[in-house]
Amino acid sequence: MGETRQKTLVLTGASRGIGHATVKRFSAEGWRVLTCSRQPFDSRCPWPGGEDNHIQVDLADPHDTMRAIEVIREKVDGKLEALVNNAGISPKGDDGERLNTIDTNLRTWGKVFHVNFFAPIVLARGLVDELWEARGAVVNVTSIAGSRVHPFAGAAYATSKAALAALTREMAHDFGPLGVRVNSIAPGEIETSILSPGTEKIVDTLPLRRLGQPSEVADVIFFLCSGASTYVTGTEIEVNAGQHV
Ligand SMILES: NC(=O)c1ccc[n+]([C@@H]2O[C@H](COP(=O)([O-])OP(=O)(O)OC[C@H]3O[C@@H](n4cnc5c(N)ncnc54)[C@H](OP(=O)(O)O)[C@@H]3O)[C@@H](O)[C@H]2O)c1
Repeated sequence: MGETRQKTLVLTGASRGIGHATVKRFSAEGWRVLTCSRQPFDSRCPWPGGEDNHIQVDLADPHDTMRAIEVIREKVDGKLEALVNNAGISPKGDDGERLNTIDTNLRTWGKVFHVNFFAPIVLARGLVDELWEARGAVVNVTSIAGSRVHPFAGAAYATSKAALAALTREMAHDFGPLGVRVNSIAPGEIETSILSPGTEKIVDTLPLRRLGQPSEVADVIFFLCSGASTYVTGTEIEVNAGQHV
């Protein structure tokens, strides 16, 4: 009997919040998780093989992203079951204010698009052969701010997430014939460091009247990468306690 190969996930933005919960969820299911973020591996991370499976990369820098793809390809050795594009940035003004369409400088706008929009497609294209080989899945983490103006999320962030939702449709169309599914999830108010002061006022208006937990988002990401969703592609699942009803 041959050895059973461990399924592999490449996950960006793994060091905190939703990404951290996602590593824990997939590891608990027996997957190998290759984590990507700007920080070096933190030895307090509780999962096995962590340091070996960590790639330090700045996704705001396209050259560094291309370099990281080569490292990832060596590590996955031909087959990749899932890519989760979770890393994201949401810059604020000097006093924490929302950056709108009038005052966001173009350099900031460009950086947001590099991390939130270009990195997901560059990674997916760079790893397409490995995803094809595994008939794998891609999950792009968008946001509630991608479909409506949000009181705290800035214009660059919101437009990058709207573009990522559109990219998900385009990718589903192009990757589908390879047997690779591409979906996105749009979280609402999830308890992580990205939240702004004042979020509690929004939470009071949600049908479920509470913040979401990163693990509740990780559960949906896992569903979209698992055998429970083999006929699901090109869609965006809202994980937001009914914020838009
Ligand atoms: N929390 C929410 O309520 C919420 C709502 C809607 C959407 N989302 C989306 O969900 C995703 C995760 O959000 P979160 O709240 O968990 O965020 P978070 O706690 O701020 O974590 C962001 C992650 O992205 C990584 N990252 C940031 N810039 C990077 C770069 N240039 N290169 C590589 N990695 C980078 C960070 O790692 P390093 O600092 O180590 O690089 C970190 O692991 C994001 O795409 C966010 O837009 C979150």
